[in-house]
Amino acid sequence: MDLAPALLADVVARLRAAGCVFAEDEAALIAEAADTPDGLDTMVHRRVAGDPLEHILGWAEFCGLRIPVEPGVFVPRRRTELLVQEAAAILGRRRLAGAGAGAGAGAPDPAGPGAASTVPVVVEMCCGAAGVAAALAHHAGPLELYASDVDAASVRCAARTLAPFGGTVVEGDLYDALPTSLRGRVTVLAANAPYVPTDAIALMPPEARLHEPLVALDGGPDGLDVQRRVIAGAASWLEPGGHLLVETSVGQAPATVAAMSAAGLRTRTVRSEELDGTVVVGRRP
Ligand SMILES: C[S@@+](CC[C@H](N)C(=O)[O-])C[C@H]1O[C@@H](n2cnc3c(N)ncnc32)[C@H](O)[C@@H]1O
Repeated sequence: MDLAPALLADVVARLRAAGCVFAEDEAALIAEAADTPDGLDTMVHRRVAGDPLEHILGWAEFCGLRIPVEPGVFVPRRRTELLVQEAAAILGRRRLAGAGAGAGAGAPDPAGPGAASTVPVVVEMCCGAAGVAAALAHHAGPLELYASDVDAASVRCAARTLAPFGGTVVEGDLYDALPTSLRGRVTVLAANAPYVPTDAIALMPPEARLHEPLVALDGGPDGLDVQRRVIAGAASWLEPGGHLLVETSVGQAPATVAAMSAAGLRTRTVRSEELDGTVVVGRRP
């Protein structure tokens, strides 16, 4: 709704007093989302009380898309855009290899003749709102796309996110949720699994600690419990030459690499200072 300048200034002042650093930007977004003065007031109240802006608006910006996020669902972080960039680059190279092979040029595809010319199978495991899957469908499609999560609210949200892209969303614990027909067929398996060590959760900002579910944050004593299970199971789901991409932190990256090497994957670590993101990429030989 359009706000009179005095009302907008009042909203900005309330947000600023509550500690919102980008009060002007947030006020503009809340004004855009509100349908009525009462609705606006409720939204401002929620923000002042500490609700994440994305839960109030009902969406988070991620890779240039508006990803639906409901209260209780993990809000996609900017650093996770690195996971998308790396996965998109892998899919782009695969497509080029397929085009080259079709024209009778280039190195043979390690996945076998014709493999790169089929539609790639992409899985976002531990998908939350499925921002990674949606961004890959948008920027690197067409794909045969799957997203999975153990949390029912996340699965509901992911289904809304992927509806325009035609992806399949499934609920359950890691690989238990996936159709068995995907075994040995996955081109890219991307996971931003929880990786916060249990003891560090108390140190997280309240927006995460109080408004995102523990299952989305808590990675066990060293933060890598879920990630290790994702890595240990990956090889039998990846196609030959397929890639597993796991978001991690700078400090945890050596342990992520070690787990991938132990699982028989060839690893490399990618770091973006700009996004403050770290991704370990493992390739099935
Ligand atoms: C850090 S959030 C990431 C969400 C999303 N990938 C993103 O980057 O925005 C981790 C997600 O993993 C899910 N999760 C945790 N344990 C899981 C498990 N055992 N099986 C499937 N999903 C799990 C949580 O529900 C949560 O949505």
